[in-house]
Amino acid sequence: MDSPKELLEKLASKNVLSRDEYLHLIKNRDTISDEAASLARTVCDAIYGKRIYIRGLIEFTNYCRNNCYYCGIRSENKNAQRYRLMPDEIISCADRGYELGFRTFVLQGGEDMYYSDDILAPLVSTIKQRHPDCALTLSVGERSRDSYKRLKEAGADRYLLRHETINNTHYGMLHPKEMSRENRMRCLDDLKGLGYQTGAGFMVSSPGQTEEDLADELLFLKNFRPQMVGIGPFIPHKDTPFADRDSGSAEMTLFLLSLIRLTLPDVLLPATTALATVDPLGREKGIASGANVLMPNLSPTGVREKYLLYDNKICMGEEAAQCIECLKTRVAKTGYEIVTDRGDHIGQKRL
Ligand code: SAM
Ligand code: FES
Repeated sequence: MDSPKELLEKLASKNVLSRDEYLHLIKNRDTISDEAASLARTVCDAIYGKRIYIRGLIEFTNYCRNNCYYCGIRSENKNAQRYRLMPDEIISCADRGYELGFRTFVLQGGEDMYYSDDILAPLVSTIKQRHPDCALTLSVGERSRDSYKRLKEAGADRYLLRHETINNTHYGMLHPKEMSRENRMRCLDDLKGLGYQTGAGFMVSSPGQTEEDLADELLFLKNFRPQMVGIGPFIPHKDTPFADRDSGSAEMTLFLLSLIRLTLPDVLLPATTALATVDPLGREKGIASGANVLMPNLSPTGVREKYLLYDNKICMGEEAAQCIECLKTRVAKTGYEIVTDRGDHIGQKRL
């Protein structure tokens, strides 16, 4: 086996390693994380330059039919105060975001069947008509292929659906038996096949995850080639079965960001809110490790504290305008720049 340093160089030049080689890197991360970050940053700069893309996140419902063991808005959490934003409120959030320089909106929510295709498709079309120069991303969980097709035809450009774990047994530890990894993967295949810029991803150090699983995650990502990858540390929520579990670390998350960048050089890779929750400088360190996307919150402040997937989430009180100013300053200090741009995947032809 090559040394960790040689493996990193091999990854940077070939963009793939074997499972054992990824595993060896993960086990030796302490010795080479700085080098991995610097290589990842060089690769990202060569493709996307010093530009950091922003996405305006609109968390429009915390109703959810699912009961994932890790998630604070799971259906069995009776302490969650449920809310739904109506289409006109969602449109106002997007309008406000546009004024602030956002050119991508992400509509994210629990799997709330109130938002049938008959409600969601016209909403997508309206936002796209009002802001034809913007991209619209959906993140509303598992739906049928027909539903994804209709939403795509209505104008949705991208879809975020983390696969959560590639390991079937691990999937069963994180989810009740009504949910299946097969259906999650079916959804991801459908989304990609329909032409969405598709985002997969997983939580780092979710209960039961092993280093071997992480090596398998990297191989899966290489094989599936999503345009976006969302990873963030698992963080416990007090009203879930995993309330007493430990959070994932910033260090492991940052190292994996670097390995993902080296594996999929042109991927759109956010430094997530969860990362900034476990480390106050998580977003800056995420960028330094190869991330090139930030997803600040555009939801009205009144509902933010209700969209609690995990405890101690940041930016609960700040208005969107304050967050964007804060982020611009933070990003500028790292030598990068937040840009007003749709920020499409580089391989994606604009329609
Ligand atoms: N319902 C949509 C879906 O399933 O894709 C979007 C919302 S879902 C809550 C968004 C993501 O939050 C999940 O894919 C999961 O990875 C992440 N998440 C949920 N609970 C979390 C926790 N306790 N810590 C960190 N991330 C969490
Ligand atoms: Fe929200 Fe800094 S990004 S306050």
